[in-house]
Amino acid sequence: MHFSTILTLASAMALQLGAHAAAVEKRLPRLGAFGVSQTRACPLQQPIYVYEYAEGEGDDCKPFFDNTVFQTVDVFFWDPKCLLTLYETHNCSDPGVVTGPDCWTPDGGIAAHRVTCPFKTS
Ligand SMILES: *[C@@H]1O[C@H](CO)[C@@H](O)[C@H](O)[C@H]1NC(C)=O
Repeated sequence: MHFSTILTLASAMALQLGAHAAAVEKRLPRLGAFGVSQTRACPLQQPIYVYEYAEGEGDDCKPFFDNTVFQTVDVFFWDPKCLLTLYETHNCSDPGVVTGPDCWTPDGGIAAHRVTCPFKTS
């Protein structure tokens, strides 16, 4: 998929999902965005929940709303200086797995996630 298509898709979904999309200050540089679904299938099946990150956000463990466990993740775009780690537990107590781009279905599901930027230069 082309980058512009992905952005359009993400925007459309964020619009559609309204309240569930994480709000990001428009003037902050974008770090990345990913979508999750409770259906175990690629491409992502509706309903899709989109999470978007800007630079400077905390690296705390983030469970999903209502402690929802998702089955599929699709990373639309992501800054290579940061990592997106997915966890099987709501409190990130398992080792977690660092995800690359695109759509995939982690074993054990996705109960929480964490954004860290270990390769940040500034
Ligand atoms: C984290 O969650 C797991 C599984 O639900 C639980 O066994 C563990 O005690 C929790 N750890 C902490 C530090 O809360």
